[in-house]
Amino acid sequence: MSDGKKKPFYISTPIYYVNARPHIGHAYTTIACDTLARYHRLNQRDVFFLTGTDMHGDKIVKAAEKENMSAENYAEVTANLFQNAWKELGLTPNDFIRTTQDRHKKTVQKILSYIHSKGDIYTDFYEGLYCFGCERYLTEKEIDEEGKCPTHLTAPQLIKEKNYFFKMQKYLPVLKEYLQKNKQVIKPDIYRNEVLGTIDELLAGKEDLSISRPKSRLQWGISLPFDDTFVTYVWFDALINYVSALDYPEGDNFKKYWPESVHMIAKDILKPHAIFWPTMLLAADIPIFKHLAVHGYWLGWGDLKMSKSLGNAKDPVELAKSLSNDALRFFLMREMNFGSDAKFTEEAIYRRLNTDLANELGNLSQRTLSMLKKYNCGPDSDAPEHIVMNELEESASAMKKNYHTAFDEFQFHKAIEAVFTIIKQMNKITDDNKPWSMAKENSTELKPLLNTLLKAVVFCMYYLRPVLPEKTMLFLETLGLSPDLPFPENIRSIKLQSMNLAEWPMLFARMTPQEKPD
Ligand code: MSP
Repeated sequence: MSDGKKKPFYISTPIYYVNARPHIGHAYTTIACDTLARYHRLNQRDVFFLTGTDMHGDKIVKAAEKENMSAENYAEVTANLFQNAWKELGLTPNDFIRTTQDRHKKTVQKILSYIHSKGDIYTDFYEGLYCFGCERYLTEKEIDEEGKCPTHLTAPQLIKEKNYFFKMQKYLPVLKEYLQKNKQVIKPDIYRNEVLGTIDELLAGKEDLSISRPKSRLQWGISLPFDDTFVTYVWFDALINYVSALDYPEGDNFKKYWPESVHMIAKDILKPHAIFWPTMLLAADIPIFKHLAVHGYWLGWGDLKMSKSLGNAKDPVELAKSLSNDALRFFLMREMNFGSDAKFTEEAIYRRLNTDLANELGNLSQRTLSMLKKYNCGPDSDAPEHIVMNELEESASAMKKNYHTAFDEFQFHKAIEAVFTIIKQMNKITDDNKPWSMAKENSTELKPLLNTLLKAVVFCMYYLRPVLPEKTMLFLETLGLSPDLPFPENIRSIKLQSMNLAEWPMLFARMTPQEKPD
């Protein structure tokens, strides 16, 4: 972090429903959190990166019934698919929570008992339109003109049942004031404004939050500690994972990481995270999380949100097998402007990978290394500096600032763009100076130029580690350099290893249509 204070850092993904296999949408959030986790680890912060699965609720039961499986078995099998997918994609979570674990159930019951004992939970009858996809009641405003849920394109069902309610209304004014004062909590800003609008609607509607489901209708869940004939509403259960994974209340991890907590989500689950969760925290006397980072949707065919229910979901592991983990990761992180929607099309993938990775970064690193070898110029750390070092250092210093600010703001595409500004500049320097002609003329500037360029390439590779972890490691290790060092301050400080460059791997080849994933 640019503030240099080395505080711990806590980043969480949503815990994904286990009624479907992981798709690109889930992979995006998890990869973005992994990118952020790697960035902060490289900044020497003590990072806790949490992901996991949401095992309870109606829709898991419905999905299990379809497969003739018990909810428990079905949930375990799909949770394993998620855990394995993240492993195959090379992601590095510190923990993977399942809401069926005892550690989680205990914390949920503790928090429920506490809020109940404060008098913030009561019983009442509820009648409303329930969307099983969202696992929550929808308000009139949230339903489209055809009477359907706009996210799942299905009609919500009218349900009337006795329920326990959490006095969310009591805490909404406190939350509203908190969000008005602390403008940095929800990022980007458009989502903060949306949340403030929703709080006003909820205040006008005067409704509290139903937090239970009668066991006569649903058994698959965590029993209410004060009434065994009910299970906990799946959202009230699931949100608590963010503190149960830190062993709330006694755990050292809770004390250490919670003050630096960042939740990352897509906009589909903004309301539970920005309203239900903070009001629950206020009632439980737990400080509100530090940031909620909200991104848009990956759109599949029909420009609809990619999802299993709409049938336009893509498997990230299959795709990574044909593109490489890093190429998929790069595409996702670079293509989406964090906060806005982005289209997931083959055309976009190949355009992005061929332009940025093959033509810019791949071409630069290949030609710099091959000319160093061909003209017998190094790597030589002590070669005199070429004059272009000055302009490169100027760009490097601007880049660093933009890069760190972008990470602070969760603007991954801007962080990558910042590094590529120097990469493009180096390709231009190479084209303008024509080292191949300098070699013919036996120019004494050739060795300084190639070693200056190589130092700058290495500098960029160090900054690309969070987003290209496997390829940058290969590149740096091939040059005998440690991939684990902190971010370099400048290009001049890069020390090259004198070595006989034998072969080096082709990092980013151009992709042709024959190599398309499907
Ligand atoms: N189980 C709840 C979350 C509980 S968190 C306490 C849930 N699960 S989910 O499986 O539906 O996951 C939703 C999340 O998956 C989104 O918020 C986002 O992180 C990711 N995405 C799923 N589809 C996506 C897109 N098409 N585009 C971008 N992100 C997507 O909601």
